[in-house]
Amino acid sequence: MSIGELAVQGGAEYSRQLADQLQLPLVDKTTAEHFPYVLRYTEKGLAIAQTGRKAAGPVVVDFAGGGSAHRRQQGGGELIVKAVAGDKKNRPSVLDATAGLGRDSFVLASWGYPVTLCERSPIVAAVLNDGLERARYSDDSELLAIMARMKLETMDAITYMQTLTEATAPDAIVIDPMFPASKKSALVKKEMQAFHHVVGADPDSASLLDQALVTARHRVIVKRPKKAEYLAGIKPNFSVEGKAIRFDIYSLRAYGK
Ligand SMILES: C[S@@+](CC[C@H](N)C(=O)[O-])C[C@H]1O[C@@H](n2cnc3c(N)ncnc32)[C@H](O)[C@@H]1O
Repeated sequence: MSIGELAVQGGAEYSRQLADQLQLPLVDKTTAEHFPYVLRYTEKGLAIAQTGRKAAGPVVVDFAGGGSAHRRQQGGGELIVKAVAGDKKNRPSVLDATAGLGRDSFVLASWGYPVTLCERSPIVAAVLNDGLERARYSDDSELLAIMARMKLETMDAITYMQTLTEATAPDAIVIDPMFPASKKSALVKKEMQAFHHVVGADPDSASLLDQALVTARHRVIVKRPKKAEYLAGIKPNFSVEGKAIRFDIYSLRAYGK
């Protein structure tokens, strides 16, 4: 991400600190228009916001709000739970190597999995961290229990995995690299556009899979659009499919063995 494409907008001290931390220019409401996207503190939290008159709504991470609560209460995300699987009483540990906005991790943590989230874009990680921190102030004890299962590492997942030992390696590793934006829903579109602007493509996802296959204790799960080819052309042991997406499962060793 080079300077000139993104800025931090705001006058408060915390905006200044964020601009310093991310080494981004600090702009006000008027100069923000020189950038297609800005990072801005909104009443809903730290947001990636498009600028200009036809701007889409800001993208924030809100684990307490509407969409997340719906996913939690309506039992959403069965597909990823089916893909990661394992003992229901003693859920396997998961590394989400491509955390993004933490949706998949949130679903897994809601179902009882302890999840380490790795995100290498410091900008995406700042937005995700803001969402995690806000949720930690909730008075909803169920949400607090979910948050206690989620831990963010702001770094490249390949580097992170290389620091792990046999004793600290996760049972399962989930990979969801960037893929060309889906036309499906306005929300996905808006998030994907903001994402593509901030992180671009993930050209090294084949190396991520290679490293995951030597790091995970039991299985690696790759999320793909339903019709996409296998990541790096490596055939999984099996797949579970939804309407638009597919999880490819690389089984290394049965859980419990
Ligand atoms: C498609 S998004 C993931 C969305 C996520 N599954 C969710 O539910 O919100 C991919 C994210 O993975 C991150 N990423 C890609 N390769 C990575 C790596 N090697 N280490 C850490 N993060 C990575 C990108 O910066 C991007 O934010």
